[in-house]
Amino acid sequence: MGTSRMFHIFVALGSAFMILLIIIYWDDVGASHLYLYTPVSPGPKVPHPPPQPRPHTTRTPSFLSDIDAFVNQFLEPGTGEPTDTVPVDSSSNQSEKSGERYIPRREWKIHLTPVAAELRERQEKRRRLLQELCANDSVVFPGKNRSFDDIPNKELDHLIVDDRHGIIYCYVPKVACSNWKRIMIVLSESLQQEGAPQRDPLAIPRDLVHNTSMHFTFNKFWKRYGKFAKHLMKVKLKKYTKFLFVRDPFVRLISAYRNKFEMRNEDFYRRFAQVMLRRYANQPTPPASVDEAFTLGVQPSFSHFIQYLLDPQTEKDMPFNEHWRQVYRLCHPCQIQYDFVGHLETAEEDAEHLLRLLRVDNVVEFPTSQRNLTASSWETDWFSTVPIQARRELYKLYEPDFRLFGYDRPESLLNE
Ligand SMILES: *[C@@H]1O[C@H](CO)[C@@H](O)[C@H](O)[C@H]1NC(C)=O
Ligand SMILES: *[C@@H]1O[C@H](CO)[C@@H](O)[C@H](O)[C@H]1NC(C)=O
Ligand SMILES: *[C@@H]1O[C@H](CO)[C@@H](O)[C@H](O)[C@H]1NC(C)=O
Ligand SMILES: *[C@@H]1O[C@H](CO)[C@@H](O)[C@H](O)[C@H]1NC(C)=O
Ligand SMILES: *[C@@H]1O[C@H](CO)[C@@H](O)[C@H](O)[C@H]1NC(C)=O
Repeated sequence: MGTSRMFHIFVALGSAFMILLIIIYWDDVGASHLYLYTPVSPGPKVPHPPPQPRPHTTRTPSFLSDIDAFVNQFLEPGTGEPTDTVPVDSSSNQSEKSGERYIPRREWKIHLTPVAAELRERQEKRRRLLQELCANDSVVFPGKNRSFDDIPNKELDHLIVDDRHGIIYCYVPKVACSNWKRIMIVLSESLQQEGAPQRDPLAIPRDLVHNTSMHFTFNKFWKRYGKFAKHLMKVKLKKYTKFLFVRDPFVRLISAYRNKFEMRNEDFYRRFAQVMLRRYANQPTPPASVDEAFTLGVQPSFSHFIQYLLDPQTEKDMPFNEHWRQVYRLCHPCQIQYDFVGHLETAEEDAEHLLRLLRVDNVVEFPTSQRNLTASSWETDWFSTVPIQARRELYKLYEPDFRLFGYDRPESLLNE
């Protein structure tokens, strides 16, 4: 009697142990799409924007989205509406919800429907444009002809690698780069929150998002892999999905100016604004600090900023700061064959397409931006104080970016 009972207990324990082993192994294999998420304490929760109707006109034929909706109604409690916003805490009141964990809106959703043809064609067109211009010898710009091996290591510092999902992201400052960096941190699980990886992109503190220790970039390969570094980079470039986001180059410059010189930024004031004031604004001794400058109302104008960019002395002192350095110099689009080229002008659609392409649309969601974005329509106003000759020189300086990424020459600004 006693031995039989003991036997049963052993069998039960053995089975439990086996199941445990299977779970652990499963986790190890990294079945990222089927992850059984362990509850993560939410950390500082950022209120989600209120659910908004999607601004873009619906591109997917409605019967296709109906299929998604049909499937998803079995997967989650809800209406099954495809753009349905699942647990968004619109009350943004932490006290009562502090026990809840972050759930991306699209978690558990499965897309059976293909990505809209229009979006796929858009990517095809952008990729083809890059290939054509890179192969066209009459299109010349610095560094175009060199091979990947000839790119100095320090110029590879904008390529962020996620080995878990096989993704390489070239970040371009002033082009939604904080949001994509947040997503890369979540995907690569490089930030731990109370022993578990941080899963909410918006809960990552701002200073950490831009801290280089959070990101595994190509320029760090030498330290980790030594002489195999370049070889490994090339293997990863071949196998991984590579993407970047760009925007109209002139609008990017306006955005950089607004962000770095219209707002109080001690670092940028000392490194750049003082230089501009001295050189172009007859201020041999500019105010010592940004606070003093703002109090006195002394700021470099947008026109001074453009003068600074055009001044040959600027790049003799040091290469352009990343916020205004050309995308072709940050991301090497002729050496790296990008699989996906997003445009900020179509960021929402492109982000959704990209996350599906990367097969992580069930893990993260692109945070919708609610900030005061620099609009293309402001361009004429901003450039009204910049002399036409300077505008043309500026266009020359950024022409490769305009052409490579399919932005039209801004004729109205350049002709008179
Ligand atoms: C929660 O919301 C109520 C009103 O909805 C408000 O009075 C209270 O201060 C909020 N608490 C916190 C911690 O935000
Ligand atoms: C190369 O670019 C020039 C313009 O810069 C264009 O006229 C020419 O047609 C292009 N060649 C090819 C083969 O696309
Ligand atoms: C780049 O290579 C092409 C031919 O391969 C050549 O015609 C062109 O002069 C080269 N340009 C530079 C800047 O070296
Ligand atoms: C970046 O993070 C590391 C550790 O997480 C910290 O030691 C370092 O001071 C941070 N750097 C900056 C510039 O905040
Ligand atoms: C956005 O910024 C522009 C210029 O900086 C300003 O005129 C406008 O009032 C701002 N809009 C909002 C909603 O803050």
